[in-house]
Amino acid sequence: MVSRVTTVAFQGIEAQPVDVQVQIGPGQVAFTIVGLPDKAVGESRERVRSALIASGLSLPAKRVTVNLAPADLPKEGSHFDLPIALALMAAMGALPAAELERYVVLGELALDGTISAVAGVLPAAIGANTLARCLICPAPCGPEAAWADPEMEILAPVSLIQLANHFKGTQILSRPQPKLSANPSVLPDLSEVRGQESAKRALEIAAAGGHNLLMIGPPGAGKSMLATRLPSILPPLSPRELLEVSMIASIAGELADGKLSERRPFRAPHHSASMAALVGGGIRARPGEVSLAHNGVLFLDELPEFQPQVLDGLRQPLESGETVIVRANHRTSYPSRVQLIAAMNPCRCGHAGEPAMSAGAASAAPQNTRRACPARCSTGWTFGSRCRPSPPPTCCARPRPKAPPRSPSGSPVPAGARPSATPRSASPPAPMPPPAPG
Ligand SMILES: Nc1ncnc2c1ncn2[C@@H]1O[C@H](COP(=O)(O)OP(=O)(O)OP(=O)(O)O)[C@@H](O)[C@H]1O
Ligand SMILES: [Mg+2]
Repeated sequence: MVSRVTTVAFQGIEAQPVDVQVQIGPGQVAFTIVGLPDKAVGESRERVRSALIASGLSLPAKRVTVNLAPADLPKEGSHFDLPIALALMAAMGALPAAELERYVVLGELALDGTISAVAGVLPAAIGANTLARCLICPAPCGPEAAWADPEMEILAPVSLIQLANHFKGTQILSRPQPKLSANPSVLPDLSEVRGQESAKRALEIAAAGGHNLLMIGPPGAGKSMLATRLPSILPPLSPRELLEVSMIASIAGELADGKLSERRPFRAPHHSASMAALVGGGIRARPGEVSLAHNGVLFLDELPEFQPQVLDGLRQPLESGETVIVRANHRTSYPSRVQLIAAMNPCRCGHAGEPAMSAGAASAAPQNTRRACPARCSTGWTFGSRCRPSPPPTCCARPRPKAPPRSPSGSPVPAGARPSATPRSASPPAPMPPPAPG
């Protein structure tokens, strides 16, 4: 006989139903999992075996086959432990199989039989509600699941034994309650900024209209400080936005204690961020910073220091409001409608345009000018101006005083003397003189 339990596999923020089928049959003693499991799912054999022993059950000395259907859908994550264990318990007669068919199950097992928190409980609960099923999830994720539907039946047990007792009727589990995080930290407030009236006005206009904004100014002008104060003047999340933001945070495993936050996301990745960190992806597709900032602010401080490829990778999410990650065997998309705020200095030294700095500058060396200038990006990021080549700043391009030539022994060579003992191979060939005109 085959016992079945339903769980989910995640594609983006959508939960696809997965049928966990367990058969205990005659043959060589083995415990096999098939159906495109990843490493974490393959390792669940050991966790399930130990958790069952810790709960007073032992695997029968028979051939145990676990099939995760549909077989061509990749199964990633540790949340398959609990559905596999429950299907096994049902096959062994320790749990009522017919009762289990009403539920969607997800959770990770510890070796002592306790059930640990997993990512993606909120999308799984919403998916279960769409399938008109109830949900079994880890106790720490119960408040998160309760947001899916106030009428939905949710079991959030601490351990396998507690769940078995619930089905026996000896210890009835109560429904977890939805919770909001208390947001104890007070946000930095825009009213703390002294002066900077035009910059504050620009921030207010950007906040009201959801516009992207680029701040260019010298060091210490207050660009970073102004950007971190933008969330204090943004409107609160609407219920629909709250659910969207929380689903992405849930998939990324960033919902602490299963509590949702009403604050708009504010993500400020460091400029060393990789493409996978900023845009999303990796071997196991995960939402990047641009998706974690969905319905909120993505702040890129020191914009020119980001890798140009990474900045180019942001073009598609910014234009379409969605990040699409395509792999050989699957395609994932995450919502990423963000307000992009960026800050940068006008040049490498940061003082371009200041009268004292531009006086006396001789020539402009291209390597000293802005790297990865946002003018190369055609997404209309620059606030109030179109992309156009700008004259190179002259402040940080002053020619450096040349070090006096040194002899091979290391002592300075007197002025006028020619360094004679320099090996030929050490000196680069002299450049070709330009052709004479005419
Ligand atoms: N208008 C202002 N009102 C209050 N404090 C300010 C103001 N301008 C600057 N400051 C102070 O100066 C500090 C430096 O500002 P901030 O780090 O935001 O400058 P920046 O423009 O980002 O510089 P950099 O280009 O070096 O990153 C802030 O932490 C803040 O304490
Ligand atoms: Mg700064």
